[in-house]
Amino acid sequence: MELILKNSQKITVQLLDSTHTQKLFNYLSSLSAETKSRFGPHPFDWQTVNEICTHTDDVLRYIAINEFTGDIVAYMLFKQGMIYWDEKRYAERKQQFNYSTTVTYAPSVADAYQSSGLGSLMYQEIEKKLKSKGTAHIILWGGVQATNERAVNFYKKFGYQLYGSFWHNEKENLDMVKHLI
Ligand SMILES: CC(C)(COP(=O)(O)OP(=O)(O)OC[C@H]1O[C@@H](n2cnc3c(N)ncnc32)[C@H](O)[C@@H]1OP(=O)(O)O)[C@@H](O)C(=O)NCCC(=O)NCCS
Repeated sequence: MELILKNSQKITVQLLDSTHTQKLFNYLSSLSAETKSRFGPHPFDWQTVNEICTHTDDVLRYIAINEFTGDIVAYMLFKQGMIYWDEKRYAERKQQFNYSTTVTYAPSVADAYQSSGLGSLMYQEIEKKLKSKGTAHIILWGGVQATNERAVNFYKKFGYQLYGSFWHNEKENLDMVKHLI
């Protein structure tokens, strides 16, 4: 799918495939320390990135590519069901979700593109697809750090609801969930 940013830049959104190893590695390596401290669903080393690009699993990985430079400028993961720690934490609060209708979400946008509207445009398109395939709930992968104002606002903008909070690495994190039906 094609997106057009407010500054008229054209962006293509597609699923990651085996041709993207170098580009994804470059993208992850170029993220600032601040962004890496907020986004870390998996290690960013070459071996992991190569494995991710060449093997399929239960995670849909969408990338946004700047049509002019060919660079990846955003990377968003949607895992079917929940990761172990999230499931455990929600279950302790007696909050349960159906594996087949739940996905777990981790978004990232390149530093230079943050607050450009790219995250919103990309997310909205993917959310539509998930909804049409019967997804009922989107859970945040490892929650969101309470101090990550940009991300918390992003989730609130799209109607994510607060389900609870927890401490991890001496930081407060929020569990937020989007209901699609
Ligand atoms: C969180 C993230 C995915 C949002 O994508 P984005 O492209 O930056 O967001 P957008 O430009 O589409 O803005 C969406 C909303 O976020 C909020 N927002 C954007 N920039 C903001 C800022 N500087 N301060 C506070 N809120 C901000 C606003 O609510 C905005 O909506 P609005 O423009 O309609 O007011 C992106 O900033 C990112 O990758 N951040 C670093 C990694 C990260 O934190 N990932 C999430 C881990 S839980």
